[in-house]
Amino acid sequence: MVHTAEATGPAPVLRPRLSELAAQIAENAKIVEDYIESQGLPYPSFATDGPAKFPLPPPSTPELEKIHAARNEVLKATKSMYDLAAGPTEMLQWLVWGFNDTSSLHVIHHFKIAQIVPEDGDISFVDLSKQVNISPLKLRQVLRYAMTNRVFCEPRQGHIAHTALSLLLRDEQSPEASWIGYNTEELSHTAFTLTKCIEKFPSSEELTETPWSMAFNGQGFFEYMDAHPESAKRFGVSMSLWSSGDGMKVEPLVTGYDWGKLGEGATVVDVGGATGFVSLEIAKANPSLKFIVEDIAPLSLEQGKANMARDHPELLERFEFRQHDFFTEQPVKDAEAYLIRFVLHDWPDKYVRQILKNLVPALRNGTKVILSDFVLPPANVLSPWEEKRVRALDLVMLKAYNSNEREEGDWRRLLAEADPRLRLDSITRPGASLLWIMEVTFVDE
Ligand SMILES: C[S@@+](CC[C@H](N)C(=O)[O-])C[C@H]1O[C@@H](n2cnc3c(N)ncnc32)[C@H](O)[C@@H]1O
Repeated sequence: MVHTAEATGPAPVLRPRLSELAAQIAENAKIVEDYIESQGLPYPSFATDGPAKFPLPPPSTPELEKIHAARNEVLKATKSMYDLAAGPTEMLQWLVWGFNDTSSLHVIHHFKIAQIVPEDGDISFVDLSKQVNISPLKLRQVLRYAMTNRVFCEPRQGHIAHTALSLLLRDEQSPEASWIGYNTEELSHTAFTLTKCIEKFPSSEELTETPWSMAFNGQGFFEYMDAHPESAKRFGVSMSLWSSGDGMKVEPLVTGYDWGKLGEGATVVDVGGATGFVSLEIAKANPSLKFIVEDIAPLSLEQGKANMARDHPELLERFEFRQHDFFTEQPVKDAEAYLIRFVLHDWPDKYVRQILKNLVPALRNGTKVILSDFVLPPANVLSPWEEKRVRALDLVMLKAYNSNEREEGDWRRLLAEADPRLRLDSITRPGASLLWIMEVTFVDE
C-alpha cells in the first residue's frame, strides 16, 4: 500500500543564524512575559510553587492567539539555537542517550521516590536510601541524572527536594504519574523491538505483529490491556493528559461543524463513542438532535448513561446507548449522520476500510459521515517543537497498533478504497484543535 505524502511542504531551514535566533527569542519571550505579568498570571518556574502548566489561557481571542504564537516562536527558536550551538557531533552523541531519561524516570516511578521525598523541605540521600533499600551512591547516580531534566533538585549538597515536575509525580494516581508508569513499564519496551519487528514484518497491518506484541509475548495492545485491567486503568488515566489538553477539547467539534444542516430532529450515531461525552456536548448546543452512542465496551456505555441520569436527566430522552462492534455491520440504518471521533487513528488501514465498509449498508444518498481525527501536515510545515510531538505520536501508533497518523491524501485514499461513494467534501481544522473535522457525504445517485 502506497502512503502518499502531499508533496507541497516548504523546504527545511538548514542554515539558521545564531544571532537571528537569539533576536527572535528575545522579542517573543518579551511578548509572552509582558502578557503574563500584565494579567497577573503565575510566572512559570521549576519551583514547587510554580504552575503545573505554562500559564496561558487557551488561544480563544486574537490577542491570545498572538501570545501563543510568540510562545511557539520561543520554543522553536530555542530548540534550533540549542541544536545549532551543540553541533552535529555532540548532538548525535547525546541524542542517542535519550533512553537514560526514560530509565531514570523508571527508577523514580518503581521505587516511589516522589512519594517519599517530602513535599516541603528535603531528605538526604542517606535517609532516602534506607527507605528504598538502594545504596546512597546508586541513588545519587540516578537522581542527579534525573535532576538534569529538572525532576528533583539538590538545594543543599546531599539532599533531595521536589521541583514543579517531580511534585506532579507525588500522587501515584495523577495523570502525570500514570503517564510515566505506563511509558516506563510498558510502552518503552517497544523501543527495542521496533527494528526487529519492522525487519520481520515489513508491511504487516496486524495487531499481533507489532513492536508492542513482540515485547509482550505476542499479545496485541488491546488484548494485553484486556488481560491487565490495572494497566488498562492506568493507561486510561494517563490518556487524560492528552484529552484534557486544549487541542483535544470537544468544543471545537461542537462549534466547528454546522450540526443544524442535519435537519430538525436528525439522528447522529456516535460510533466508538465511549461514554457519549462528545455527543453530550453536541446535544447541549443542538436541542433538536438525537443521539445513539455505540461502543464495544458495555462499562463505558453504562457509565455514560449513569452520568447523564445524574447530571443531565433532561437529555436522556434524546439519547440511546447501545453496544456495537464496529467490525460488524452498522445496525442503525438511515440515521442522518455517523460520527467517528478519535477512533480511526488507532487502526491500520485495512481495519479502517472495514469500519467504513460496515457503515455503508446503513447509508442512503446524502447521509453524512463525520470523521474527527488527526490530519498530519506534510514535512517542514510545523515548528520543530510541534513537528517532534506529532511525529512521536505517529511513531507510537506504529509501535502499538501498526497504525499511523494520516495526511489528507491518506484519508482521501482510504475513503475511496472503502467505497467510492464516500465523498470527502471538506476537511477543516477548527481553531487550534488537534482533531480536524472531515465531512463525508454518501453519494448514491
Ligand atoms: C480513543 S476512544 C475514542 C472515544 C471517543 N469517540 C472520543 O472522541 O474520545 C476509542 C473508543 O473506541 C471503542 N472501540 C474499540 N474497539 C471497538 C469496536 N470494535 N467496536 C466499537 N467500539 C470500539 C473503545 O471502547 C473506545 O471507547
